[in-house]
Amino acid sequence: MKNIILTGDRPTGKLHIGHFVGSLRNRVRIQNEENYDDMFVMIADAQALTDNADNPQKIKDNILNVALDYLSVGIDPKKVHIFIQSEVNSLTELTFYYSNLVTVSRLQRNPTVKNEIKIRGFNDSIPVGFFTYPISQAADITAFKANIVPVGEDQLPMIEQTREIVRSFNRIYDNVLVEPEAVIPDNEACLRLPGTDGSRKMSKSVGNCIYLSDSKEVVKEKVMGMYTDPLHIKVEDKGHIEGNSVFTYLDAFCTDEDFQQFYSEFKNLDELKKAYQNGGIGDMKIKKFLYQVLEKTLEPIRERRKIYENDIERVYQILKEGTDYAKKVAEKTLMEVKQAMQIDYFQEDNLLKQFYKQKEK
Ligand code: TRP
Repeated sequence: MKNIILTGDRPTGKLHIGHFVGSLRNRVRIQNEENYDDMFVMIADAQALTDNADNPQKIKDNILNVALDYLSVGIDPKKVHIFIQSEVNSLTELTFYYSNLVTVSRLQRNPTVKNEIKIRGFNDSIPVGFFTYPISQAADITAFKANIVPVGEDQLPMIEQTREIVRSFNRIYDNVLVEPEAVIPDNEACLRLPGTDGSRKMSKSVGNCIYLSDSKEVVKEKVMGMYTDPLHIKVEDKGHIEGNSVFTYLDAFCTDEDFQQFYSEFKNLDELKKAYQNGGIGDMKIKKFLYQVLEKTLEPIRERRKIYENDIERVYQILKEGTDYAKKVAEKTLMEVKQAMQIDYFQEDNLLKQFYKQKEK
């Protein structure tokens, strides 16, 4: 079995540490295990436009930001094709044909889209393109015959929708498409990293994110201002772990080695948690530890970003080459799809051949 990996992000802003533990870290791991035949990471600008039609500038501004985020976390352009969605025109064509295989009521049941509609306050004015983006996402995945899709938990409904489209297509036409599987983090804290303010999710508009591109000073300031446990007022007070963002971040980031290196009073996170719950551990202490743990990850990311930022033409070239390659692969799948659907009229004079065949009968 060939392993083909595909994933992507909407370029609506800089990527943050929630993206990192939710999906980026998995991608780099998969890339470095090298157990695949081809790997793609897509900047989903067309999808981003489905709810930003009036703000194309924002999307454009973030293309290079996201590309830099990818390269700085260690996505290796020698191993992975990074490409821009809207440049791969076969994707739009596939989307159109797949929409015949999906019902409106099926789309209405998609919990992620439902939630996004609520958050964006669309009410009765949902853009059709936004409503149908799960179909376009199925095109993204199937165009490359990806079988593995490393994503955040919120993307599971899209993968399920894609699998249904693949099954319908293969049943009705021919066995052309591949059913994908999602890969999500196995650590609960990584599934949905809360904001620094303790709210459920990191979100740019709330201003509770730690960005991969934040400077050391900014990271420190954000960590020191983090939400912890409002009942933990004096150091001696018993502390709570549940809903305490600092501990959720530690769950997502820290290793036993970090304790040896920065906090040798404790062997591991379980010990620290117990001590905190018993009282006697100040919030400053755990924040300082978290800052050190985060910096261990963020420092090399920052260093790599600097290198690429100083050579932005190379980044441009990486995107161009990745996109050229992606276009070829997607075009090939589109041809197979059209053939299966019998709309490949000018391939090998099919339309003519069909005419003569019927005449013979
Ligand atoms: N929906 C994804 C996000 O919001 C982006 C995306 C578009 C994607 N197409 C994809 C992810 C295909 C994985 C596979 O971040």
